[in-house]
Amino acid sequence: CSQIPEAWRFDCYPERGVVVTEEMCHARNCCFIQNSQAKTSGRNGVPWCFYTPEYPSYELVSITDTEIGKVGKLLRNKKTYYPKDIDALQLEVLYEEDNRLHVKITDPAEKRYEVPIDVPVGPKTASSNPTYTVDFIKEPFGLIVKRTQTGTVLLNTSIAPLFYADQFLQMSTSLPSRFIYGLGEHRSNFLHDLQWNTLTMWARDVPPMELTNLYGVHPFYLSMESDGMAHGFFMLNSNAMDVALQPAPALTWRMIGGILDFYVFLGPDPSSVIAQYLDVVGKPAMPIYWALGYHLCRWGYKSSDKTWNVVKEMRNYGIPQDVQWNDIDYMDRALDFTYATVNFSTLPDLVKDLHKHDQHYVMILDPGISNSLPSGSYWPFDEGKKRGIFINDSNGDILTGKVWPGLTAFPDFSNPDTHEWWYQNLKSFHEKVPFDGVWIDMNEPSNFFDGSLNGCPENELENPPYTPGILGGTLKAKTVCASARQKISTHYNIHSLYGLMEAKATESALRKITDKRPFVISRSTFPSQGKYSGHWLGDNRSQWKDLAISIPGMLTFNILGIPLIGADICGFGGSTTEELCVRWTQLGAFYPFSRNHNSIDEQDQEPTAFSPAARIAMKEVILLRYSLFPHLYTLFHHAHISGHTVATPLLFQFPNDEKTYRIDKQFLWGKSLLVTPVLEAGHDYVVGYFPKGLWYDFHTGDSLVSSGEEINLQAPIDKINLHLREGSIIPTQRPNTTLWVSSGQPLNLIVSLSEDGLAKGDLYWDDGETLDTYEKDQYAYIYFTVEQNTMTSEVLHNHEEAAYITVETVSFYGVKVEPENVTVNSQEAAFTYRDNQVLTVTDLGLNLIRNFTINWM
Ligand code: NOJ
Repeated sequence: CSQIPEAWRFDCYPERGVVVTEEMCHARNCCFIQNSQAKTSGRNGVPWCFYTPEYPSYELVSITDTEIGKVGKLLRNKKTYYPKDIDALQLEVLYEEDNRLHVKITDPAEKRYEVPIDVPVGPKTASSNPTYTVDFIKEPFGLIVKRTQTGTVLLNTSIAPLFYADQFLQMSTSLPSRFIYGLGEHRSNFLHDLQWNTLTMWARDVPPMELTNLYGVHPFYLSMESDGMAHGFFMLNSNAMDVALQPAPALTWRMIGGILDFYVFLGPDPSSVIAQYLDVVGKPAMPIYWALGYHLCRWGYKSSDKTWNVVKEMRNYGIPQDVQWNDIDYMDRALDFTYATVNFSTLPDLVKDLHKHDQHYVMILDPGISNSLPSGSYWPFDEGKKRGIFINDSNGDILTGKVWPGLTAFPDFSNPDTHEWWYQNLKSFHEKVPFDGVWIDMNEPSNFFDGSLNGCPENELENPPYTPGILGGTLKAKTVCASARQKISTHYNIHSLYGLMEAKATESALRKITDKRPFVISRSTFPSQGKYSGHWLGDNRSQWKDLAISIPGMLTFNILGIPLIGADICGFGGSTTEELCVRWTQLGAFYPFSRNHNSIDEQDQEPTAFSPAARIAMKEVILLRYSLFPHLYTLFHHAHISGHTVATPLLFQFPNDEKTYRIDKQFLWGKSLLVTPVLEAGHDYVVGYFPKGLWYDFHTGDSLVSSGEEINLQAPIDKINLHLREGSIIPTQRPNTTLWVSSGQPLNLIVSLSEDGLAKGDLYWDDGETLDTYEKDQYAYIYFTVEQNTMTSEVLHNHEEAAYITVETVSFYGVKVEPENVTVNSQEAAFTYRDNQVLTVTDLGLNLIRNFTINWM
């Protein structure tokens, strides 16, 4: 036992809250070595009780070739210490794509629960040129996946025994490096800590804190190998689970149901890994244009008139705002599909007024439907009951929980009938209040009771043989009973899919009601969610550390395929300070989803609530966001069609620069716009890392050459540092107070020349709201390049929507010699040239849908 290095000890006693004794450990036939660093095994520290290399596992008794890979049989002849081992298993290895391996281990005797999300049906024949090899170890069974090109081992499951019992599945693997990302939803740095760190997954309503399961569940990781290559791993399982990380480096999946169903994505660069993952779960939806504007929300506006006043004040100060939201205050007694007829009597007029000003309205809905109003007085419950669409307890009666309206029933969104009922509710409410989008909250689902009004029965679903490290210690903690019954399965299996299924129902209802791209923001999420909704990071606090930690949260959701993501700007709980709120608005202007939201009874934190200087600083940075709309919109297009990230970790663009692997205080928009926000109080400077190369100050065009170093940047309170990487072209637009107006304004293209005078960029343009414009060919796509002092704009796909847009100016950063002459389509053009090597060609009036060239000499 002592021969096994500490970092390689795999926990044989992961149960929490028990001090493992030698006796207990030996009862499991494991090694016992006490270790001063850890009191109990499990959470933090070297396990005291760990497997021997000979620990019984499965044996691979047969393996044969199939058209698409291999099929094998696994047998276990010694019981584990958990009940109901499945002794005979079927192994399927599917060489689906050159860069995608899919493995399924199932019980051939009895069908087990599988996650009901659509994944591609693999091809009939195996990939002809896989970038991976798969080796098998017969006994104890292990699977080894290597990258063919480099021989790097990406997966090696032979390092610890495989468990496959009815309620306990466990598989460990070595990792090729310490660099691992993803595995949401947790509050942590972007790069995960491998120092005995267990990430538990089980959807949960709790203000984000470190080391607990949070709102969403995403069993996907991205791992960097040591040579700049990357791979991904996706465990398609929705049961409660632990993902235990240890310094070996190694990782253990520990799940309490379902099957083993996983994918390996070979990249080889990080962006390709994400694109390959999204090929499986689905690429994000193209948002409606105003989703990318500035949103204002709070809990506690108290009346529609107060809400309206906020909007009016924003207009008075000329601060851009596209969307006004309401929290539960708008409802009558917190009842979904109602509005408070006294305090919110003017709500329909407010919404009409927003529309008149090209603004939009979003309101909250919670899943809990009040079940205790007089029969006949509340259609959502009466009708839902009649149609049998609520979650039932294990006796088959409607389960009663408690949320804001008091006692509630929970719609079962796994039932298609529930979608129809949800749609009808939304539709009739829309006839009263013509809302534009929906915010779905509390959908873990959150319950103020543990389980239900009557508790939960004692059975193996409520008390499984092993419970992952769930906050509260039980599956039912602050949610519904695990043994509750839903249409397609028990809540035990599909709990963490609640938010996904509700988002799906809401998205499809909105499609039918508005016939436009649906806008849905959901608190709970699961893989594939990006197809239906965006997400916000939940109940943060008005503190500097919450400002900083929002960046890793935003980056993680970008690699999880939910790019429409942001945190509550200025913080939800607690009171902000003016300085914090200014800095947060600056960072928040670069959240793909930019919403200021505040809790009840906290001090106001709309931009209008502060001093003129603060207000102006906020206004400026929101205008800056609006000016970048054409670029942001184009990035979302690439996310939608190619699975790109919008907010991008630096390491994605510089995978050969290991210094970028830990960076989560800066990020890129797309490939080239570097954001370096101030994240600390009292600072008028910020230190940022600049990967090797030429960078330009976005605001001035001043150049900066980095050898791959940290650079101290000035950051007075009214400035956010933005830099453009060499070689890019970014479309910007004269901003206005709504994106509707702003998006009709002339463009200013910003070109950052590389050392050898090259640059490229693009623009995707459509009407901003019609469904499936790309799929239906209703869009324009323009590609810009610069080479040999000549810029070319080429319309690769034309559409009349772009005919309304003109290119007014083009600014070239890094023109080393002052030109004598500039021509546009061979005609002389007006220009200015500054000492910092910025050439600006002005008064262009070029129609975006016509090709053009600009040349300087
Ligand atoms: C919890 C949400 O996370 C928060 O944003 C919201 O304000 C409250 N629920 C009240 O609805």
